[in-house]
Formats: sequence, structure tokens, C-alpha cells
Amino acid sequence: MNSKLNRRAFLGTSGTFIAGSIMASPLAKYALSKGEKVKVVLVGTGVRGTSFWGRTLVQDYSDILEFVGLCDINPGRLESANQYMGVDCPVFADFEAMVNQVKPDLVIVTTKDSTHHEYIIKGLDMGCDVLTEKPLTTDEDKCQAILDAERRSNNKVIVGFNYRWGPYPTKIKELLNSGAIGKITSVDFNLYLNTYHGASYFRRWHGLRQSGGTLWVHKATHHFDLLNWWLDSDPQEVFAYGDLEHYGSNSPFRGDKCRSCEHKSECKFFWDITKDKRSMDLYVNNEHHDGYIRDSCLFRPEINIYDKMSAQIKYRDNTYVNYSLTTYSPYEGWKIAFNGTEGRIDAWLDIPFMNSENISQSDMHALEMSQEDDKLSSDPVIVHKLWEDYKVNTVDYSKAGHGGGDELLHKQIFRTPDRKDPFDRPAGVRDGAMSILIGVAARKSIESGHPVRISELTDLEPRERRL
Ligand SMILES: NC(=O)c1ccc[n+]([C@@H]2O[C@H](COP(=O)([O-])OP(=O)(O)OC[C@H]3O[C@@H](n4cnc5c(N)ncnc54)[C@H](O)[C@@H]3O)[C@@H](O)[C@H]2O)c1
Repeated sequence: MNSKLNRRAFLGTSGTFIAGSIMASPLAKYALSKGEKVKVVLVGTGVRGTSFWGRTLVQDYSDILEFVGLCDINPGRLESANQYMGVDCPVFADFEAMVNQVKPDLVIVTTKDSTHHEYIIKGLDMGCDVLTEKPLTTDEDKCQAILDAERRSNNKVIVGFNYRWGPYPTKIKELLNSGAIGKITSVDFNLYLNTYHGASYFRRWHGLRQSGGTLWVHKATHHFDLLNWWLDSDPQEVFAYGDLEHYGSNSPFRGDKCRSCEHKSECKFFWDITKDKRSMDLYVNNEHHDGYIRDSCLFRPEINIYDKMSAQIKYRDNTYVNYSLTTYSPYEGWKIAFNGTEGRIDAWLDIPFMNSENISQSDMHALEMSQEDDKLSSDPVIVHKLWEDYKVNTVDYSKAGHGGGDELLHKQIFRTPDRKDPFDRPAGVRDGAMSILIGVAARKSIESGHPVRISELTDLEPRERRL
């Protein structure tokens, strides 16, 4: 056994000891490593990998971590990742060769969704901790394989659920935890993606269910994770409807990609990628390697995901949830209402006519994707107890970086991994699994016309209380 493996074995043993007492994140064990930096590799050098999990970590956390390798199947994107992130790592097309050579402590997975499982499982089996972007994976068989891999490993999976960390969702969690409206009995949760953000999912691999698992998984994993976490119960059964009625073949005209399309002037969705330098550098300049077209037509016939979705979810504690997601709304935002035995909570974000801010829909999308600081926003969460007047709780938060969640997620994972979070925000493999399994069950329900039980999908048994 080489010295690196010795160190990892030591850290693993120490971590096990800590787990029963104070450890809140698997990375807490690295605090014991006497000043050595955590050795990190990144697989998937696309936009999310090289920016949020790449350049931002290099800029803000280089005192405690060090990138030691980068991996991707696209050699062009891989080569330019070093420069963009501000590092000088060896680059690899072969993940196993990378891990064998550079012996990382932590693997960060930011590849296309349908390939996450490959790197999560190999990373665990090769003795690394793994931090994966959402969704954990795209179907129940891959999910089971990940669960099995973590069970046979001394290491852990962290799922980067950034939405939990936003101050606004956290305020809702705090109010629910405090029993503000008694026991929750039902929830209405409605999501609206606008014609910028919603459309963006149909321009590239997300539009193919074999790549992203449909938006039931790729996108709704965020919402289902919030629900599971807010309700603190596991989903038990799902019944769903879904259809593709706007994008895909639902247009009288279509092209190959926006750049060369003969319908530019008449298509409301025309997007000039040549004006976006980052997208040109990342995608267009590298499309000759793998044929990944970033500005594909969102009316191409091979699109096989849903663009309107609706589900009923019954939780193990008998809470009923009505959930809907639409992808071609004039505005982006969400509304939620929790009905409880002692009252009701209403909350919403970004609904233009319920909000004092004046921001265009295209600017809103850009802001959410950005990691730059911006001015604080304030939004209300309404608590209305039975037989009383309602009370308004005002929450201040930043719109950038997914409602302020991105930055706080980083801090917890890398700066304070040993601190127990009062809101239970750090997420592991079971959280990742339970959120995607709702989406998988919804897909199966649409295909079969029947409700689908979560316990049919993997060996995880839904619990009345999650922990
Ligand atoms: N939490 C969030 O809010 C959030 C936001 C954006 C993206 N994401 C997630 O981040 C991940 C990456 O998304 P993105 O927008 O950066 O996509 P992207 O297409 O820009 O990048 C994906 C990268 O993976 C590479 N890749 C594809 N298949 C591969 C394979 N088999 N092996 C190795 N590399 C492979 C591609 O070449 C590309 O460089 C996705 O899982 C997505 O769901 C999460």
C-alpha cells in the first residue's frame, strides 16, 4: 500500500470514529489531516464543472484543496478547463487511469446526468469520497448500483443540493420545524420555467430522456428534494401525467441549429450563441470532437421528454402533494402552500405581479446562473394560523447563484464540514435517491397509467420520518 492509500485508510478510520459524534459531512475527516490539502479531481469539464465546482473552488478554497486531475470525453473542453479554472493539472480521457495516477481524496462528478453513476461507483470502488451534482442518477437500476457501491465502500457520496441552502427555502424549513402550522397534511407546489430557462433544456442533451432522465429527474430532483427535506418524510407513492405539447415536433418549422437556421427571423426562440463568448469557447469551438451542439433546434423531432408535468405524491406520513411543472411560462418562479392542522404557509419566489422588483425574464435567468454578488432581494413567507390574522416573515437573500444557495453549499462542504447544521441541509446518497425516485416513479406512472410505489424501485424502504 502506498503512502497515499495509507493516508486515506487513516482518514477513513478516523472518519468512522467521528461519524457517531460530531461529523456532519464526510469531508470532516480531512480536518484531521494536519494541513495537507484535500486532493480533488473533476470529471465533466462543462459549464457547471469548470465554473461553480472549478474556478470558484480554486479562487475561494485553494488554501484547503488542490485540483490534481481533470477528466472529460471531449479533449477540447478538457484542455481549456485548466486555463479557465486557473490550474495546471494533468488531463485524462480515462477516469480510472486518472484515479490510479493522481490518487485523489475526492471526486467531483459534473458530467451529463446519465453518466453520473459510472463515476460515482468507480470513485467509491477506488477508495475516494464522491461529490456529485444533481441528479444522483437517471433511473432506478443505476440508483441501486450506487446505493450498493456506497454500502461496500468506506467512503461517502455527497449530493450537491444547492436549493436547500438558499435563505428563502431555509426560512420555510425553519417555520415548518417550529410547528408554526401544526402537522402538515397537504402541499400544493407549482413550478414555472420561462421561455428562456425552460427552453434552454430543449436545446441540448437535456431534451433526450436517455441523457437527462426527462425533467422529472433532471430538473424536478431539486423540487422533490426540497419537498422531502421540508416534510421530513419519504415519498411512498406517485401518480403522474406528462406530455410534450410545445417543443419537439410541435412547431410548423424547424432547423438544425440556431446559428444556421433559415427561420431565424420568425422563430421567437432564436438564440445567437455567437454573441456568448463562454458558450462559443466551451461548446461551438469543441463540437467537432463529439458533435455536441449547444444551440440545437428546440423543435427537433428527436426530443422525447415532457414539457408539461403534473403529479400527486403521497408521503409515508400521509401528506399529499400536488406538484406541477411547466416549461414555457411567460415568467419564471414558483408557488407553494403547506396546509397544516393549525394553519397554512404560503410562499412564492419571482412571480412578477406578486413581487415589487422589476427585472426582465432574460436578466433573471442570467442572474440565477451567475455567481456574482448582486443586491439583496426580500420576499415574504406568510404564516396564517387558524382563527388568527396572517403574519408576514420577510426573508433577505441574493438572487445570484441559485438564490444564494450555491455559496452556502460550498462553505458547508469545504469550510465547516464538521459543523452540525440546524436545518439538516447536507445531503447524502439517500437524499439523492429519494428525490430522483419520485421522478422515476412519475415517468413509470405516465407510461403505465397506474400509481407507482417508491419501494418497488430499489431496496430503500420509505420512512415516516427521514432520519
Ligand atoms: N445544481 C445546479 O443548480 C446545477 C446547475 C447546472 C448544472 N447542474 C448539473 O451539472 C452537470 C453538468 O451540467 P452542465 O450544464 O455543466 O453540462 P455540460 O454539457 O456543459 O457539461 C457536461 C460535460 O460532461 C462531459 N461528458 C459527457 N459525457 C461524459 C462521459 N461519459 N464521461 C466524461 N465526461 C462526459 C461533456 O463533454 C461536458 O463537458 C449536470 O449533471 C447538471 O444536472 C446542476
